[in-house]
Amino acid sequence: MNFRVSLVIMSAAAWFFTFVSPGHAGIAEGKKIFDAGNCGKCHQTAGPAKEKTIEDQLAKKGPELWYAGNKFQKPFLQKWLIDPKPIRGMEFNSLTKKNGGNHPKLAKDGADNVTEYLMSLVSTDFKPAGIQPKNSPQGRMVFEKKQGCFGCHEVKKGEKMLGGLTGPTMVGIGDRLQPDWIYAYLLNPKVFKPVKDMPTYAGILSDDEIKMLAEYVSSLK
Ligand code: HEC
Ligand code: HEC
Repeated sequence: MNFRVSLVIMSAAAWFFTFVSPGHAGIAEGKKIFDAGNCGKCHQTAGPAKEKTIEDQLAKKGPELWYAGNKFQKPFLQKWLIDPKPIRGMEFNSLTKKNGGNHPKLAKDGADNVTEYLMSLVSTDFKPAGIQPKNSPQGRMVFEKKQGCFGCHEVKKGEKMLGGLTGPTMVGIGDRLQPDWIYAYLLNPKVFKPVKDMPTYAGILSDDEIKMLAEYVSSLK
């Protein structure tokens, strides 16, 4: 093969890998930004869950991200990484200190690439169940009456904020998390957070009730 031909092939290949190969530039670039920003100092990006004891949990500085691609809605991550408003009412792992909202921020480009990277992190145990958001009275019954979910989670009722602050807020959760992940988490929270104070509802609620609950939670704005 002559030199000119191989040069043309090589530059075509470079062009292909830079612009055409699906999404990978974003993922690789996002991982670089994630590593350079020391995000991994506080966030676990390889599964499965490692923490086994309360000491392991307390040693963690931030929530795990190794299944971020199953959990988050992509547009939410793109926005949140630029303007990270508190999700948990309390500082991570604290029951007494209010969340001061001082999470590191990224610029738009960085946030887009890091989002691509985080959306590529998925759990091998995760199975989609086709849950659709639904603001049903039955779902609300389970959430408000049958189980006191808002004992630990903040919700919006009309203009009023109600509920506890020990768990992440449910305000805007319908735009933040994927319905199928909410269902998977309610079925088996230990896969994702083995040492957190969230009760397990499998065995207490029927599978139908857990489905309705996931549909209802996914509809919360
Ligand atoms: C000093 C520790 C620390 C560093 C460094 C850090 N984070 Fe975080 N991160 C946290 C804490 C704590 C939270 C929980 C915030 C909240 O609930 O409001 C969080 C939340 C998140 C969330 C939402 C996770 C969830 O389950 O709610 C994402 C996504 C995230 N961080 C990405 C990043 C990225 C990307 C970087 C690097 C640019 C980064 N973080 C750097 C501590 C950190
Ligand atoms: C005893 C307190 C408590 C109760 C009651 C409780 N939760 Fe939680 N919940 C938590 C904690 C703690 C977490 C994990 C916190 C973390 O990741 O930092 C959590 C996490 C969640 C998450 C994941 C949110 C996210 O952003 O990671 C969902 C969804 C959820 N709970 C739904 C529910 C529902 C629905 C109920 C009622 C059936 C309920 N919870 C009852 C404490 C509670």
